[in-house]
Amino acid sequence: MATVTFDKATRIYPGSTKPAVDALEIDIADGEFLVLVGPSGCGKSTSLRMLAGLEDVNGGAIRIGDRDVTHLPPKDRDIAMVFQNYALYPHMSVADNMGFALKIAGVNKAEIRQKVEEAAKILDLTEYLDRKPKALSGGQRQRVAMGRAIVREPQVFLMDEPLSNLDAKLRVSTRTQIASLQRRLGITTVYVTHDQVEALTMGDRVAVLKDGLLQQVDTPRNMYDKPANLFVAGFIGSPAMNLVEVPVADGGVKFGNTVVPVQRDALSATSDKTVTVGVRPEHFDVAGAEADKGLAVTVNVVEELGSDAFVYGTAQVGGESKDIVVRVGGREVPEKGSQLHVVPRAGETHVFSTSTGARLSD
Ligand SMILES: Nc1ncnc2c1ncn2[C@@H]1O[C@H](COP(=O)(O)OP(=O)(O)OP(=O)(O)O)[C@@H](O)[C@H]1O
Ligand SMILES: [Mg+2]
Repeated sequence: MATVTFDKATRIYPGSTKPAVDALEIDIADGEFLVLVGPSGCGKSTSLRMLAGLEDVNGGAIRIGDRDVTHLPPKDRDIAMVFQNYALYPHMSVADNMGFALKIAGVNKAEIRQKVEEAAKILDLTEYLDRKPKALSGGQRQRVAMGRAIVREPQVFLMDEPLSNLDAKLRVSTRTQIASLQRRLGITTVYVTHDQVEALTMGDRVAVLKDGLLQQVDTPRNMYDKPANLFVAGFIGSPAMNLVEVPVADGGVKFGNTVVPVQRDALSATSDKTVTVGVRPEHFDVAGAEADKGLAVTVNVVEELGSDAFVYGTAQVGGESKDIVVRVGGREVPEKGSQLHVVPRAGETHVFSTSTGARLSD
């Protein structure tokens, strides 16, 4: 087992001037499950492929444990990778697929068999060892791909969107299986996904990338409670955080008809006349139309989830109409077309600089 360090690792593809990954710095602990997340094209796969040795590193370094692997070929890095397109060999049995890397490495037959059987037991594949991949379900094939990685007993697992071929329900159950398997094996894992829910549910820590630049690396809790900037605030959380540009007022910010107190330090950190306030859908106090408080929101759509409901509405902010999402109790669902007045709950606001996007509140 080992730590993994991205030390200002940079990748500039030939013919490009802008780095696909720009001075990435992450220290991953021994046994940690780190998730790289971000929108399409932000550099997730490139980062993982640099760690795997499948992509040149044009600046900085990558270390596994205290070994500098920056320029080592993939086979000398002691890693195993599970791809989105896990491409099992169709003509080989599950057992042969799982043991193939060991066979290539010259491991003897008895030892291969033993390792494959151990991995099959962990992955609940014992009864399928003699089948061909085409006779397996998508989830079972995905587990064979995991098995192929496990039998090699690597220092580090790398996974690039390994669940994206599975249907929604299987994704949810398989993500739990992978996370608990990783914890059991204790092998340092770097996992790539574009799905922020997957990232939050699976990772010990999550690293958010945008345009090749690391935005924040943090525990799921901190990422949700204290997004470092407007991008992370909007990206993490579903439905997304409401981000509203509002005037700075004496002692707080003017949110519709109400001055919402925010940390004094947050406002003294900027000379701007307006800031962007972030409020998660579950952090509004809701009053009826008769109240003259906060922001008036006209209800467009209500999404009922049983235990609670999401109200999708519009409000007039600074002369423009702005979409607002509010979570309400399942038994307090407003009528479509009606009006609500919403006020952010004290202590649950996030303040960002509109001009730089940086978080101002702590
Ligand atoms: N072989 C390549 N040559 C040139 N540019 C590339 C190459 N591979 C990727 N890129 C570019 O580098 C950037 C990062 O790509 P990367 O594949 O790392 O994104 P990603 O975050 O994995 O996206 P996705 O979620 O779509 O898989 C993109 O702008 C992409 O177009
Ligand atoms: Mg990718």
